[in-house]
Amino acid sequence: MSDHDAQSARIDSILTEDRVFEPPADFAAAAHVGSLDAYRAEHARSLADPEGYWGEAAQALEWFTPWTRVLEGGFPEPRWFPGARTNLCHNAVDRHVAAGHGEEVALIWEGEPAAAGTDGGPEVRRLTYAGLQRETAQLASALQRLGVHKGSVVTIYMGMVPELAIAVLACARLGAVHSVIFGGFAAHAIADRVDDADSRIVLTCDGAWRRGHVVPLKATVDEATTMTDRIERVVVLRRCANAVDMKPGRDLWWDDVVATGDPHFPCAPMESEDLLFLLYTSGSTGKPKGIRHTTGGYMVHTNLTARLVFDLRPDAGHVFWCTADVGWVTGHSYVLYGVLTNRVPTLMYEGAPNAPAEDRLWAIVARHRVTHFYTAPTAIRAFRKWGDEHPKAHDLSSLRVLGTVGEPINPDAWIWYRDVIGGGRCPVVDTWWQTETGGHMITPLPGATPTVPGSCTLPFFGVDAAIVNERGEELPHGTGGLLAIRRPWPGMLRGIHGDHGRFLTTYFKRIPGMYFAGDGARRDARGYFWIMGRVDDVINVAGHRLGTMEVESALVSHPAVVEAAVVGMPHELKGQGIAAFVTLKRGFDPSPALRAQLVQHVAHEIGAIAKPDVVRFTDALPKTRSGKIMRRLLRDVAAGQETTQDTTTLEDFSVLARLRAGDEE
Ligand code: PRX
Repeated sequence: MSDHDAQSARIDSILTEDRVFEPPADFAAAAHVGSLDAYRAEHARSLADPEGYWGEAAQALEWFTPWTRVLEGGFPEPRWFPGARTNLCHNAVDRHVAAGHGEEVALIWEGEPAAAGTDGGPEVRRLTYAGLQRETAQLASALQRLGVHKGSVVTIYMGMVPELAIAVLACARLGAVHSVIFGGFAAHAIADRVDDADSRIVLTCDGAWRRGHVVPLKATVDEATTMTDRIERVVVLRRCANAVDMKPGRDLWWDDVVATGDPHFPCAPMESEDLLFLLYTSGSTGKPKGIRHTTGGYMVHTNLTARLVFDLRPDAGHVFWCTADVGWVTGHSYVLYGVLTNRVPTLMYEGAPNAPAEDRLWAIVARHRVTHFYTAPTAIRAFRKWGDEHPKAHDLSSLRVLGTVGEPINPDAWIWYRDVIGGGRCPVVDTWWQTETGGHMITPLPGATPTVPGSCTLPFFGVDAAIVNERGEELPHGTGGLLAIRRPWPGMLRGIHGDHGRFLTTYFKRIPGMYFAGDGARRDARGYFWIMGRVDDVINVAGHRLGTMEVESALVSHPAVVEAAVVGMPHELKGQGIAAFVTLKRGFDPSPALRAQLVQHVAHEIGAIAKPDVVRFTDALPKTRSGKIMRRLLRDVAAGQETTQDTTTLEDFSVLARLRAGDEE
């Protein structure tokens, strides 16, 4: 099935999807927002009076100095809560300690090795707010001694261990800017990000556990230090006890560093628009861009969405588990900030979902009485494929709300999630948002919104979303178009680090006066939103964003390759897979060995997540008369291709290309 066929099938399913699931009455009765009417009234109010609405939302948090205005200016550079000072770590941690909740559990962590704990089960750690306060204070103070100050960028390249959360929060405490890099990225990716952010310090681990193996994180950082001379300090946490090289004068052990820290180091007062973090994400051109998020607005947005979209409350026995790695925005907003600022315990799991067996996540849900579970459609498809017996072997009765994020979810996977994981009783929230939006944008509210499988339903409060054409004109329901946001929201990005021009062109040039999300979407007759996928050269592989150009650049950096074109292709589990078409230099012949080498090369340049699923060799790439690669044609060819195994044939695109010449001009 080609992408276009897949898209048509999706549209058909939208037009015929008539399964509607009302929020369960008992859930609605106790929910923060308990009916569709209540949602509609509040949404209307939030658009009629955004300053009133968000000003009220901000009262849920503590500010050292109040704002002079809620919102100043508009797109592309609004200022939220100008004049106000606050601190995210204060609101996520210290505030709760001061209110007498210091001994409550803030973070529950489970390690991957299945029998490493004292009771013969996995290792489990529980950190209280008081513990987090002490540990973030010590680390923040120790980092300051190492020369990190307000505004310094701290690169964090760690596994999913509690110290990763501590590192992020310690940066916020000190006013340093965190730049977390997902542990699956390779050395080049680290070096590029370190250079772009001018970051002088990297926090890492000796290794990370993944499916019983040690991923050698420190060795990858060592490799990155050969590609940039900016890294002056590397702080290494011992996790896996694997051998690492420690370079004298540069590398320090985490424990030694932290031992010098002051456990009473205070939270720095930050201006609302002070930079909180950079998070690199792929675009359709160039290298990944450093998305800039600031303090006050992001805090309010993630706090409110976490509370309303998951119907969270403290003291209700909630245990929130978002399976995302903290290296992605979902981990920033809904493993850490949004959940901790609501004083709900957040769960972090270190390893793979099938380690040691395919029921691992359900064992965790049962062991920790998880109430809220948030994951990606690609994971749901894998769970389903692994078989119902795995969830059925565990007591999942603690679950109350299920969430999904990252890519469109096929209705049958949605139904499976609801029935088999949620026991038919838990509302499913399909949340649409992006690295750039900071928090949820279009999503059901579990006690208010009737859900339809495959639709992310309606905009969150304060969010003015529309389907428009290139001129910004709103399209009638049922018509596909561009997804746009028509007014600023607090959690929105404040720029692309070091590239203001790219910020303006990417998000604000295409549709005049609006934020362009990069997604195509449509609304159905009820006004519900259905995301169709990216309309740019970004592909969504297993819920992770990759630019086709990044993969192409990695391929052409191999000595055998002259030219490469990369497109997305339908993939049963990953949503989209990566298909690469490659022309070789004279003297190199297509072979399975070379194909394997190229796949490895991409993994080495970017990381394993970017490995092409299919590599096809070709004499020439199909191009239009003006020299543009005919991606649509390549997508069609790729869609007919299933595996990397049987593709030794050399493609001859010339006939097809001639037939289609001019097609994409
Ligand atoms: O295409 C949309 C898809 O993921 C993109 C954003 O990717 P990223 O910045 O990595 O953030 C992912 C996690 C927030 C979007 O442009 N996407 C995200 N959520 C959904 C989605 N597509 C359909 N349905 C969703 N719920």
